[in-house]
Parts: sequence; C-alpha cells; structure tokens
Amino acid sequence: MTPAAVTHPAGDGPADAHTAHRAAMHAPSTQDRCPLMPTYGPPQLQFVRGEGSRLWDADGKEYLDFLSGLAVTSLGHSHPAVAEALHSQAQTLLHVSNLFGTEPGWEVAVTLDRLLGGGGQVFFCNSGAEANEAAVKLARKWGGRGRHVVVSAFGSFHGRTLATLHATGQPAKHEAFQPLPEGFRHVAWDDLDALAASIDPTVAAVLLEPVQGEGGVNPATTEYFAGVRQLCDERGLLFMVDEVQTGLGRTGEWFGHQHFGVVPDVVTMAKALGNGVPIGACWARCEVAAVFEAGDHATTFGGQPLAAAAAKAVLAVMEAEDVPTRAVKAGATITAGLEALDGVAEVRGLGLLLAAELTGGIDARSVAAEALRRGLVVNAVTPTALRLAPSLLVSDAEVAEALATLASVLDGHAPDQRQDPDLYEHRDDHVKGPT
Ligand SMILES: Cc1ncc(COP(=O)(O)O)c(C=O)c1O
Repeated sequence: MTPAAVTHPAGDGPADAHTAHRAAMHAPSTQDRCPLMPTYGPPQLQFVRGEGSRLWDADGKEYLDFLSGLAVTSLGHSHPAVAEALHSQAQTLLHVSNLFGTEPGWEVAVTLDRLLGGGGQVFFCNSGAEANEAAVKLARKWGGRGRHVVVSAFGSFHGRTLATLHATGQPAKHEAFQPLPEGFRHVAWDDLDALAASIDPTVAAVLLEPVQGEGGVNPATTEYFAGVRQLCDERGLLFMVDEVQTGLGRTGEWFGHQHFGVVPDVVTMAKALGNGVPIGACWARCEVAAVFEAGDHATTFGGQPLAAAAAKAVLAVMEAEDVPTRAVKAGATITAGLEALDGVAEVRGLGLLLAAELTGGIDARSVAAEALRRGLVVNAVTPTALRLAPSLLVSDAEVAEALATLASVLDGHAPDQRQDPDLYEHRDDHVKGPT
C-alpha cells in the first residue's frame, strides 16, 4: 500500500502528517508499515510528473519548482534533449563495465576538462558523496603515509558516507556514527588564520565549497579562496573544491570557484550533471590524478553509458543556452525581488543558488510549507532562511510568479518560533567547535 504519510493530504498540517508517518514507520503489520527506512521526515506530498519548472501531484495540482530537487534539475524537468538521449542510449547499450569505457563518458570528460580550464582528468561515479570519496582517496595517495588529513570548514556538507560525513563540518551529525574514519579536521569558515593554524605535516588537502549549500547558502569570498590557494601552494597542499551543489552554471560561472579567480587541484561535482540521472565526477589536475594507478579506485556503475549519455546531453544544452549567463540575470532579478519583500531581511548566494534570510521570528519552515500549499516549491535551508534554486532555464514570468507567491505568503505571516526539526532534510544542527 502507499505509505500513510504520502496519502495524508498536506492540508491536514504537519503535526497530523508526522503522527501518521511515525505510526506507519513502526506499524506492526507489513501491510500498514512504510516500506522505507525512517531516514527522511514525512513527505508532504508526492509529485508524479514534471515539465520545465512545473511539477504536478497525484491530484493534478500544479506547482512551480524553485528547488530543482535540491539543485539537481538545472535544465528543468523532462528536458526533451535529455529524455531523447536516455531513450536512444537505452535502446543502444546500457552497460558494459568500466573495463571497456564508453563513448559518451569520454566526451563528457573532455567537456568537463574544457569547462574547468583544461589540464585535468576525470573519474566518474554516481553521487556527490562518491565524488568526494574519490577526492579524499586521491589526497591520501598523493600525500603518502602519515600525510592524509583533509581540512574542511564548519558548516560544510560533503556527503553521508563515513568519510564524507566526517569531512562534513557538522559535528552533531557525526555522533551516532562514531568512530568515523580518522583523518578529518574542521576550521571556522572564511577564516584564513584558523586554516593556517590547523595545518601540520599530517595535512594533505583542504576541501571547501565555493558556496556552503546545506550549511545555509554562505558564499566564500575572493579574498578567502585566493588566500586558501596561496596557503596550499606555500604548504604544499591540495586545494580541493566541492562543486556538487554549485557546479555547472548554478552560481553564474561554470564552477563556483571561477568567481574567485583560483584554479583548484581537485574539483568534485554531481547534482546537475545528469539533470536527475545519478552521475558524479571527480576532476583533478593531471599531475595529481597521476598518483592513481589501475586498481586504486573503481566503481561498477560510475560513468556507465546511460548516465554518461544524459550528462553529454545536459552539457550540450547548458553550453547552447549559456546557463551561467542566464543564472546571473535571473539571480539578479530574484535577489532584487526578494529584497523588496516585507519579511526578507537579507538575500545571499550567487547566481541561482540563493537564500532569503527572513526577518526576526519568522519560521522559514512554516513559510516553505505555506508556499507549497500555494503551489511554490522552495525549502527552509535553516530555520530562518529559505533556499531558492530554480531551473537555470527559468523564465521571467516564472520568476515573477514565484516572487508574487512568496510576497503573498510573507504578507501578514506572523513570526512563529515553533520548531519541528523533521520538516527539513539537512538539519541545521551543526555546532561551531572542535570535533
Ligand atoms: C556540497 C555537497 N557535497 C556533497 C553532497 C552529497 O551529494 P550526494 O547526496 O549526491 O551524495 C551534497 C549534497 O547535498 C552537497 O551539497
């Protein structure tokens, strides 16, 4: 049967939905029990169809998607070029293993290297966490025994595998899973002195996001990233940039670090690369990539023909549409529109990865829930901030519609301090302090 939480209408309110969901999670009979592990809170509704920036639920209600499946569907839903590539590849060749490689994978690697400025090589995988795992292994092999520590920032998010969870600078997320793999250290975000002080002979690499996405949409600065590059050069460390959320046009450059004029040694990406088809990639400068030998790292599915065909189509559309320029333009319009709204204190972010910090006391989760009821999909990236990450092909009319919906939701929205942590996916429970 369909899980109770999904059949529970959003209009019944979060409290009812949560009660139903919890009951379904622990129901004694198989018939009533939710078949999914309780790693996510109750879905408020289920979408069954998407096209461009639009989604539809099972009742046929239409929504405007300004979240893009957490910055994944950057070309919108069901993009015809991606659908056609998947259809044609599915009829041609689905899988042969990486022992043989694939034609679309080769082309995607060449394009990614070009967009990153050249001089590197690519390892394909299936997700952001796996891309970062590859980066961590690369850093360890490059550093050699005894020089294996990766330094990342508090408030960062790098994945949920054991190593990438430890790289994630949110200690509260670590606790239940200790002991985590050794070799990770966290420093204050945007603080060069703290980073410099953390470096000793055991450190091999620094891993940072250009904009901390799950941590609340906190952009780095040119001064910080340029300083990190200089520090890494002086101390002989790898500068690894996690572009899983920021990569491929989302911030208004092909990659977020390009705003800051630095060239990293390693870049990871995933989300937008397949526009919803799982594929991730770890790029490294050739001299760094050269430390990997055959057998050092591998994956059954990474870069397999179906996912690579999707990525090839995605990159072709992205280049033809010049998505970074579109992100700059639409991002500026949305920023100006949000700043003009009552209830918005500040807008931060780059391009089309934005957060609207709400004025004192307004609960972002109840605003997001009300926006959803009115047909707009956004999420509360922190208890006080909404994240907007629409399709990079979003139209002016869709931007105007989203702003009008948010204006109507915020208009008269009483400050509400009630907190229900299950209402958003990556809880903002990180504590600034040593792990
Ligand atoms: C910056 C960053 N790195 C890594 C990840 C993990 O990616 P995945 O969920 O595909 O493993 C995410 C996911 O939100 C992310 O935002």
